[in-house]
Amino acid sequence: MKKVMILTGAGQIGMAIARRMGYGMKIVIGDKKPENAQNISNIMNQAGFDTLALEMDLSSRESIRGLIAQAQQYGEITMLVNAAGVSPSQAPVEAILKVDLYGTAVLLEEVGKVIAPGGVGVTISSQSGHRMPALTPWEDEQLACTPTEELLKLPLLQPENIRDTLHAYQLAKRCNEKRVMAESVKWGEKGARINSISPGIIVTPLAIDEFNGPRGDFYKNMFAKCPAGRPGTADEVANVAELLMSDKGAFITGADFLIDGGATASYYYGPLKP
Ligand SMILES: NC(=O)c1ccc[n+]([C@@H]2O[C@H](COP(=O)([O-])OP(=O)(O)OC[C@H]3O[C@@H](n4cnc5c(N)ncnc54)[C@H](O)[C@@H]3O)[C@@H](O)[C@H]2O)c1
Repeated sequence: MKKVMILTGAGQIGMAIARRMGYGMKIVIGDKKPENAQNISNIMNQAGFDTLALEMDLSSRESIRGLIAQAQQYGEITMLVNAAGVSPSQAPVEAILKVDLYGTAVLLEEVGKVIAPGGVGVTISSQSGHRMPALTPWEDEQLACTPTEELLKLPLLQPENIRDTLHAYQLAKRCNEKRVMAESVKWGEKGARINSISPGIIVTPLAIDEFNGPRGDFYKNMFAKCPAGRPGTADEVANVAELLMSDKGAFITGADFLIDGGATASYYYGPLKP
């Protein structure tokens, strides 16, 4: 038996983190597009990792449970990397809420039930969650603590209260951070930790879809005018994940880490201010 990592979302960010942390482990890779999972699995196997590619849908509890059950056949689940998601240019409002908001909440809950003592997880949120103005304390608490099957019935997530896909994405990513806080309490009871990382613009196929989408100029302006003056790379996100998932991060749980080249700072107090 091996220690097992579950990786959901076979994209560039997920692979970078899995390569950083997953050596010596069985890495079970789930993605809605089986070809993406297989592609990342092939690259990693050829680089000495032990991976298995599976089809799974983050928006389905049954599918998440299926992935966990398959992963458990190889040993105890000690790591979770959730880097599955859809962006505002890739999907309609309902899909963004079902995948990024509800799916992430279910995954944290289901893995939290089986995570081994000493286990660690990260889920990829986004700078977008930091851009949206503060919600009320009550709304934050609802996002954090509402039972997963009730989440999408919350008044603030109803279609009449959501302006567009970007707003849905911001709400989903805010919810990710709040769920991580609430879940960290439960994970802590098992001696396990869970955190989120909120990247800015990281060059991946998802970001390239954004560059070529209706908000392309907005994104290009964002990285040109942020303090770093460039977009980031998945390996830089893995640097943060390494801190959070290694023993050096033993005192860090229930937290969110912004890694955006300063774009959010500039959005509030610099040249990116709208
Ligand atoms: N790239 C960026 O600039 C950026 C910035 C902030 C946050 N993020 C977040 O990082 C995460 C990973 O994004 P990435 O840039 O690596 O994208 P990516 O497109 O390279 O990878 C995302 C993967 O998720 C998979 N996926 C989509 N819907 C799914 C579902 N329902 N079930 C299972 N898998 C599904 C896709 O098939 C894809 O393989 C996402 O949550 C995204 O919102 C990305």
